[in-house]
Formats: sequence, structure tokens, C-alpha cells
Amino acid sequence: MAITAIRGFNDILPGESEIWRRIESEAYRIFSGFGFSEIKLPVVEKTELFLRSIGETTDIVEKEMYTFADRHGDSLTLRPEGTASAVRAYIEHKLYTSPVTRLYYTGPMFRYERPQKGRYRQFYQIGAEVLGELNPRADAETLVMLIRFFDAIGLKGVDLQINSLGCPECRPVYKKVLLEFLKGRKEALCENCVRRIDTNPLRALDCKSHGCIEATVDAPPISASLCPVCSEHFESVKKTIALNGINATVNPRMVRGLDYYTKTTFEITATGLGSQNAVAAGGRYDRLVEDLGGPATPCFGFAVGVERVALLLKEGEFETRPTTVFIALGEESEKKGIELLRGWREEGIRVVEEFSGGALKSRMKRADRLGASYAVILGDDELKDGVVVLKDMKTAAQEKVPWDAVAGKIRKVLADGE
Ligand code: HAM
Repeated sequence: MAITAIRGFNDILPGESEIWRRIESEAYRIFSGFGFSEIKLPVVEKTELFLRSIGETTDIVEKEMYTFADRHGDSLTLRPEGTASAVRAYIEHKLYTSPVTRLYYTGPMFRYERPQKGRYRQFYQIGAEVLGELNPRADAETLVMLIRFFDAIGLKGVDLQINSLGCPECRPVYKKVLLEFLKGRKEALCENCVRRIDTNPLRALDCKSHGCIEATVDAPPISASLCPVCSEHFESVKKTIALNGINATVNPRMVRGLDYYTKTTFEITATGLGSQNAVAAGGRYDRLVEDLGGPATPCFGFAVGVERVALLLKEGEFETRPTTVFIALGEESEKKGIELLRGWREEGIRVVEEFSGGALKSRMKRADRLGASYAVILGDDELKDGVVVLKDMKTAAQEKVPWDAVAGKIRKVLADGE
């Protein structure tokens, strides 16, 4: 029996991979315009890193991590997200010697979740982190960058929701208020939320179980408990976002699934994905660098779910460069082809050679099955005259074209929109 991929792990096939490339290259282009530089991070980290950053009572750490002992017996984990690794690297390489560090990364993340449309066990994120900036304008600027990125790739119908989770000064105050509220509704909460009601009552606001959603509809909002510093920060973020012409809705229930957040948090959803509709999320984490052993460093960041964005763009127009198939008739033509193909590729033409030999008719059929938009044929006569036969596979029109005009000709036909 043939072996298949693991449940929740996907192959990204040709046709889709062009969309991915486009998403990634637009991210690089836009993020670098905002001063971000790429960091490449390991896929596996010490388990402790995630326990200390994401939080021991989160769903991710409690039930979704791919954790294993290596041959030495050390506990390692396939990264479920990138922020923890970025912060670890920031501390390890003393990147804090610069007043502000802007990093972005891309790659696979792993969470043992129940797979469905838009939710996988291996999924890709494009993440960005600003480390060392406390100013609320940094939160807003990073959000603006993310919206510009969605604009650039043509993602429509995005909705930005924001909230503030306060700081170590005011969050405990809110936790108490919420705890009192939840205690009165304990019967309606799910088992999980009851278990962690004392350690992490905020999780109940994020819980997807029907009972918890209903029981917390009228939960007191965190905004009423924010300290003046957090409150002012949040107001400033909202004001700067609005100055940039971007709409944001305040969602007081949005607590996020990771424990490291302070102050601003956000989620961006898009229509057309069903229940897994968050295409990006993130927020401020002013304590994480210090909690992981670095100097006190305020930070803000986000991650985009690449599969979800790609699903939405799939319907759109993504041109892959048309393929030209080169057919050499005879050994001399094959030899000349070495030089010609090199030149055409340098001129940006996507060209593959048809190697089968045999009758021209069957080779043309094969070119068609290879997905050729054009066939370029070089036989003895053409070799003598310094030309090729260029055939448009769609219209079947063909003409003789000098070698050095082939790439220009193909490009021109494309530019004319034929
Ligand atoms: P997150 O909300 O856990 O945040 O994930 C960010 C995005 O990754 C989600 O909005 C979603 O698009 C995508 N995603 C998450 N889980 C899955 C899955 N199982 N399948 C497909 N896509 C998924 C973080 O990971 C934080 N590190 C973001 C951040 C960066 N906060 C500050 N800096």
C-alpha cells in the first residue's frame, strides 16, 4: 500500500506554490520597507522555552505540542509558534544592543489540533516582531504594515479587532473581577475552564464550548479594569490606527490563546474561511524578554497564517509564467540548444527541453502534455539559418524567429495579453 502524509500535514503542490511564493515575496518586500530584517530560526527548541513563554495552562502547551525526548533524553518540542524562538535568539545573540530590533520569519509551526479547513497540524506562519519599542505608535505602525501587506496581495474583506489585556498592575485586578463573575456560573462552564478557573480565568472568554460562550456573554469587560497607563496606551493605539485610515473594532472578549501578551492584542479575520477565519493575530508582550532571562524589553508582533491566506487567494488570478518547450531535432541541434536555452533563461523565459526523440508529431503531443504555451523547434534547416520555429500551442500559429529574438517575442506576446 502506498504511504500517505501524516494527518494534518500537507503537500503544497505546483499551482499552489506560486501563490505561496507571491505571498512570501510580498511580505519580504513590504516588511523590509518598514525596516524589518529576516531571522531564520530552528524548528525544534527545548520544551522549557514554550512552557515559560506560551504558558503552562494554555491549550497549546497542555494538549497541542509535539514533544519528544531526543536520544540523550532531553525534552524537545517542534515549535508551535515563532515568537518564543525569536525572543530566545534576541537574548542569546544580544540583539538588544540596538535600541529597536525589527525581525521577521517564516516557516512551519506544529500544533496537534483537530484538522479541518484552515486548521492543520503543520502550518506556516509569516511572523514579525518589534523588540525594544514601548511607544503605542509602534503597535499601530506594525498593524498598518500588516494591512498594507494584505492590500498588496489582494486579500479582501479583512476585519481588524483589537483589545487590551492590561499589564501586571491591572490584569490581576481584572482576573479577580472575572473570577468572582465566573464562580457564579461554574455549572455552565466546561470541565477545562472549571479546572483552570483559579490559575487562568481569562481562558473562559476564549473557550469555544457552547456553555462557556453563553455563560460569559455578559462578563465584565477588561477595559473597566485597565490602569491609567494601559488605558492611555490603548487610546493612543486606536487613535493612530484611525489616523492611518484603518478601521478597528474593539472586542473586549479577545484574550488570545497565549499567555505572554500585555496591553494591545489583535486578530484579523477574513470572510470565506468558515470557522477558522483568523488570518493573522498578535499583540504586545512587554514582559516576555525579561521572563526568559533578558533585559526588560517591550515588544509587539504578529503572525500570519499562510495556508489560510493562500486558501482565499486561490480563487484569484495567479499567473504562473508560461512554459516554453524546446525540441531539438538531431544531435547538432541538441548541442546548439545548450547555448540557446542558457541565453533564453537568462532573459527570463521559462523553458524546458523535451528529451524523448522520436517523431516530431509525438514530441509535439508530449510538449502539449507538459503544459507548453509555446514550442520552439530547432532542426537542421533552422540551424543553418540561425532561426527556430516558434509555435503558439493555443492558436497553432507558427513562424520562424531568429535565435536572439525568441525571448523578446514570447515576452511581447505575453505583454500584449494574448
Ligand atoms: P496565533 O494566534 O496562535 O499567534 O497564530 C497566528 C495565526 O497563525 C493565526 O491567526 C492563524 O492564521 C495561524 N494558525 C494558528 N494555528 C493554526 C493551525 N493549526 N492551522 C493553520 N493556521 C494556524 C501566534 O502564533 C503568535 N506567535 C503571534 C505573535 C507574534 N504574537 C506576537 N508576535
